[in-house]
Amino acid sequence: MGKCISFHSYKGGTGKTTLAANFSYLLASKGYKVYLLDLDFYAPSLYSYFNFEPQFWINDYLRNKADLDDIMIDSRSLIDFKFEGNLSVGFSKGGKEDIYQLEGSLLNDKEQQVRQFRNFIAMREDLLVNKEADFIVMDTSPGIRYWSINSIVISDIVLLTLKMGDLDLRGTIKMIKEIYSSLIEHGSVCKLLLNRVAGYCVPHSDLDSVNKNIMSGDSVYKNKIDRELEKIVNGLVKVDTMLEIPCYCDIQFKEKEFLTIHEFPEHPFTTKIKDLVNQVENLD
Ligand SMILES: Nc1ncnc2c1ncn2[C@@H]1O[C@H](COP(=O)(O)OP(=O)(O)OP(=O)(O)O)[C@@H](O)[C@H]1O
Ligand SMILES: [Mg+2]
Repeated sequence: MGKCISFHSYKGGTGKTTLAANFSYLLASKGYKVYLLDLDFYAPSLYSYFNFEPQFWINDYLRNKADLDDIMIDSRSLIDFKFEGNLSVGFSKGGKEDIYQLEGSLLNDKEQQVRQFRNFIAMREDLLVNKEADFIVMDTSPGIRYWSINSIVISDIVLLTLKMGDLDLRGTIKMIKEIYSSLIEHGSVCKLLLNRVAGYCVPHSDLDSVNKNIMSGDSVYKNKIDRELEKIVNGLVKVDTMLEIPCYCDIQFKEKEFLTIHEFPEHPFTTKIKDLVNQVENLD
């Protein structure tokens, strides 16, 4: 049976979309059947990265207006790569009206809200059972919002992404205590991804030695304060850190985040995503 994995965070801009897209790409290139879902209904971005306006959106599926085959777009029609496996992408639409519909807040329609949530669960089952997905990868909205919570609730693995240097630690810890702790109690695996840690973006003269250290997994330049903060998070909620990903200033301005590891297969960022894939593959 395949696995459902979500990338979530308390604050916005932590790297969820970048990591989810590159992670999905690498899984597909390893031969897996992968479904990447943009569930950031409040601020969807994958359709702009892929530069693609689908005829049907995940929103339509949730409202019984489209089938799974209508909304899942085979990436071969989107990008010019050949995977050993398979990558399909589901896009979401996030206008004001769409959000009202999704939250069932038009006419305060609770029934519609429940129906959509049922369809959401059915989508997961359909992908895992009928489509034989190896991985469903979900990009979510930050914070405690209706569809983020729905997404992490149906995930087997939740990767909570923190952006070093811009932590809202109190908020994150509160969210972990209030929401993640019960997910963990019910058998979900939750791990921290520490993104944009120190260690790469250093003066140019030091770059070679830093590169070597990062490649060997020894991030000697990791900020001591960040390490202390990490201990606090881990200590309080017993959520382990799965991976530290340095800040790579040279890739952050790329418009199509998805293409990063394809464009730069030798970049240390690619090595990090490979590490993430290996760790997820080895989780029970
Ligand atoms: N390790 C990294 N090094 C450098 N830049 C990064 C790294 N990870 C992400 N970024 C950059 O940070 C910015 C925000 O990333 P991204 O859009 O993936 O975050 P997000 O969590 O999906 O944001 P939102 O919550 O708004 O959806 C992007 O410009 C991205 O290229
Ligand atoms: Mg995003």
